[in-house]
Amino acid sequence: MSIVITGATGQLGQKVIADLLAAGVPAGEITAIARSEEKAAGLVVMGVRLHVADYDQPETFAKAFSAEDRVLLVSGTDVGRRTAQHAAVIDAAKAAGVAQLAYVGVFGGPKAEFLLAGDHHATEKLILDSGLPYTFLRNNWYSEMYLTDLPGIVERGVIANSVAPGARIATATRDDYAAAAAVVMREDGHLNTAYELSGDIAWSQEEFAEELSRQVGKEITYTSVTGAEHKAILTGVGVPDAFADVLVDVDDAISRGLLAGTPGDLSRLIGRPTTPIADTIAAATTS
Ligand SMILES: NC(=O)c1ccc[n+]([C@@H]2O[C@H](COP(=O)([O-])OP(=O)(O)OC[C@H]3O[C@@H](n4cnc5c(N)ncnc54)[C@H](OP(=O)(O)O)[C@@H]3O)[C@@H](O)[C@H]2O)c1
Repeated sequence: MSIVITGATGQLGQKVIADLLAAGVPAGEITAIARSEEKAAGLVVMGVRLHVADYDQPETFAKAFSAEDRVLLVSGTDVGRRTAQHAAVIDAAKAAGVAQLAYVGVFGGPKAEFLLAGDHHATEKLILDSGLPYTFLRNNWYSEMYLTDLPGIVERGVIANSVAPGARIATATRDDYAAAAAVVMREDGHLNTAYELSGDIAWSQEEFAEELSRQVGKEITYTSVTGAEHKAILTGVGVPDAFADVLVDVDDAISRGLLAGTPGDLSRLIGRPTTPIADTIAAATTS
């Protein structure tokens, strides 16, 4: 038996493996799937098994799995192409008849009516059609995504996006989501279940700006712009046109309340409250 993690060299995958090891899963019972042997060297040093495979090369997954394996499919990053990529993994998992296929998808599952969710809907359907025992980890947004341009935000003193005033989003940190994934991979009792994973407390852009202002000691204002204005800002800093549309559409989904849900699945799975956005801001401002 092995717990097999795809995307193992990515930020989420690495945290899941670290959590499994910290929980006492022997390194030799974990298999990392990565497309770069070089990038996975640190995992191999720890005793984690490595299988090199690329979502774009289905044949590389041919011998990746055994019937006893519990597999975590971490979704890829090529938005719009991911369904075909994930199909390669699902087909190989089905051929092996794995014991569990867990998938990192998006909050809301079939109710997530926005562009970025399309690949996730289609992937969940392929998994259901495969007949394999599944676990759906439907993640809300990572809190860290709002702090990737912290120096720029502080310099400009403005956060501008097309989220409607007052609309809320229930983010959590990568650590929180990784902890949940590690739990469902190492514990029994999570088969044929979909978890809606989000932060315990939904926050608005105005509250985020207020907390950030307090922590950095400078007034940061929040401005809600139109979708067209938001797209112009994004393409102006080099975001490709099609992906700018996807990001504007995400803000529209937030404005419609689609990412504000706080069902509590995440804190229940990890046995502690999720990380408040103020803590994520503090981590970013002190790093
Ligand atoms: N909810 C959110 O806010 C949010 C934000 C960002 C991403 N996501 C989703 O969550 C997933 C995990 O996030 P993350 O932060 O861990 O992203 P990440 O650091 O970019 O990791 C993505 C992983 O997928 C691997 N990958 C990409 N294309 C591949 C291919 N063709 N074949 C094999 N492996 C491939 C990458 O391999 P390399 O290490 O070789 O690059 C990497 O290990 C993402 O892939 C994305 O679907 C969600």
